[in-house]
Amino acid sequence: MDFRLTAEHELIREMAYKFGQQEVVPDVTARDREAKSDRAMLEKMGDAGILGVSIPEAYGGSGTDYISLGLVCEELERADTTARVVMSVHSGLHALTLLQWGTEEQKQRWLPGLASGKLIGAFGLTEPNAGSDAANISTTAVKDGDSYVINGQKTWISLADYADQFLLITRLSGSDAKAPYAAFIVDRNTPGFSSRALHGKLGVRAGNTGEIFFEDMRISADCRIGEEGDGFKVAMSALDHGRYTVAAGAVGIITACLDACTRYAKDRTVQGEPIAKKQLVQQMIASMVQGRDIGRLLYYQVGWMKNEGLRHTRECSMAKWTNCERAFDAANKAVEIHGAYGFIDDFPVERYFRNSRGAMIYEGTHEIHTLMQAEYELGYRSDKPLARTLPTWPS
Ligand code: CAA
Repeated sequence: MDFRLTAEHELIREMAYKFGQQEVVPDVTARDREAKSDRAMLEKMGDAGILGVSIPEAYGGSGTDYISLGLVCEELERADTTARVVMSVHSGLHALTLLQWGTEEQKQRWLPGLASGKLIGAFGLTEPNAGSDAANISTTAVKDGDSYVINGQKTWISLADYADQFLLITRLSGSDAKAPYAAFIVDRNTPGFSSRALHGKLGVRAGNTGEIFFEDMRISADCRIGEEGDGFKVAMSALDHGRYTVAAGAVGIITACLDACTRYAKDRTVQGEPIAKKQLVQQMIASMVQGRDIGRLLYYQVGWMKNEGLRHTRECSMAKWTNCERAFDAANKAVEIHGAYGFIDDFPVERYFRNSRGAMIYEGTHEIHTLMQAEYELGYRSDKPLARTLPTWPS
């Protein structure tokens, strides 16, 4: 067992750290206040090569391993959750799932654009009546010759207004498949597609979230990902990748809390000494350090399992569940350490508090991950190897 990051990992971490601090942090408060989202951030990330991380060179990516993706997510979220959400949706839920499930022709068609950022990808699973109960979706695809006609609606879709294409999970009408679901890549310019932004979110305010609608939207059958009946598995695979990026990002929030709190606690003087000398403050800092270090081990393990081509649904759920809880706890403590200054956006910790709350809901709620872990332990949930995995690394 080797816990060291390689020299290449360190370079990637440094690149993502610099990108976050130089390109994201300077206007993060203004963007959050104005709830300003645009494509500019996505384009900058594409230009910096960040969107190609963990996509093989054969498809225009950087050819780096899956731990690299985690490191990038950690450093991006240390700067701002909004930037990490782009990675979770574009790279995790969309591009890696295409890498896992696409035919060679489909990978050649879409991955180079996704790796360079010329194409932005998003994910459509959740519906107004199907959140945690993902199998209850009602968006329907009906086969018609060489195409499918799709009707329905998805909600809580990150990048709804900016993504060029969506990995869409639908129910299959008239199919005799055991699990009547299918997955498609849908171009937003397809007639019958429309989107609408959601406003007034508690956190991730500068991130675009919306609804997408399909009205008699006709999709060529060669845009189907996997076979008819594979749609639910494609969705669950996507969550294995998305949850990994969320777990790694959560460690970045804890690190950001530590950055802010160690600075503030050494500056702020009470009763003639910095509050960093007060044991109750030290207790909170120690707890954040504990969350950060446990969180890293959990996501490094998942990254390693991805590299090896091992099933990691259980471990990924554990990392996402634990790290997001610890990130919210760290942000709460960071507000506490800052006192009244933790309650105003002159300091970043109130934003960490709001943003970290969201990650306990999306990509599987706190309750879903609690139940999954109990069911694995009780033997009620299968953990058998999957027939289809990501390409191993090194390949
Ligand atoms: N990879 C591939 N296949 C998988 C899989 C995986 N990770 N996990 C399960 N499967 C397969 C299973 O093997 C099974 O196939 P077989 O019958 O052939 O064995 C099939 O899929 C069904 O699996 P389950 O029995 O586990 O299905 P379930 O109905 O019990 O799932 C659940 C329950 C795990 C709670 C699931 O509904 C779930 O994860 N819900 C949460 C949904 C979620 O996280 N939504 C987030 C949306 S995305 C988002 O939030 C991002 C954004 O943009 C904001």
